Amino acid sequence: MKVIILATAEEVGDHAARAIITGVSAGTISVLGVATGSSPLPIYRALAAHRAADLHTLTAYALDEYVGLPAAHPQSYRSVIDAEVTIPLGLDPDRVHVPDGSAVDIEAACVSYDLAIADSGGIDLQILGIGGDGHIGFNEPTSSFASRTRVKTLAPQTRADNARFFESIDDVPVHCITQGLGTIMEAKQILLVALGATKASAVAAAVEGPITSMCPASILQMHPDATVILDSAAASKLRLTAYYHYVAAHLPIWQR
Ligand code: GLP
Repeated sequence: MKVIILATAEEVGDHAARAIITGVSAGTISVLGVATGSSPLPIYRALAAHRAADLHTLTAYALDEYVGLPAAHPQSYRSVIDAEVTIPLGLDPDRVHVPDGSAVDIEAACVSYDLAIADSGGIDLQILGIGGDGHIGFNEPTSSFASRTRVKTLAPQTRADNARFFESIDDVPVHCITQGLGTIMEAKQILLVALGATKASAVAAAVEGPITSMCPASILQMHPDATVILDSAAASKLRLTAYYHYVAAHLPIWQR
């Protein structure tokens, strides 16, 4: 994994946004995987400042959605993606896809979501955050590395973490639809962002720990093109920090 450590959340957002804009301009990114959560917000803010950069041509797929929240609920990931991504970036709403957590046949909705991604030619770049327990999307610890988009039960800690967006923890859905780890691993490029000290242990386990379903993000060590962009607090439990800075200071000319 490529590890990039920057001083602030704003720098993390700018760096990631530059990589996305470069890919869109070069024609290598036409399908973007988008994530909810606070970590990717600086990326969306930086992208919104570059709306002119042909972003409206993008197709987007969200990682996950709560089961049982109507799409119009302010905390449905459909609403959150509309407010944080679709509108500020000027994307075509018809090309922004979120799993259907209100489908009558939820299992069928999961299967058709993976098929839709494949029909679009696959995800060119997937943005990821990381949960405090190492989850990506809503793939909680012990999720299968081969998993596809499916229904999962949220861990009590994840519900507690997300309760800040609801009036009470009882309002946080128990189930979700999430792209599987196998689905996420098919993205051509992965860009994981983590901000703040509360993510430091999960980041260290994902980047430098063993590959284990106890830390779902550790599967990214098997991805051929995964980059982790961190602020210094999220990087604070890494052991090879000096090496990551050394690599950044000695990039081959064609990667600068
Ligand atoms: C939720 C989302 C994840 C996100 C995680 C961390 O569980 N499903 O995609 O990475 O929260 O969110 P935050 O970045 O707000 O800490």
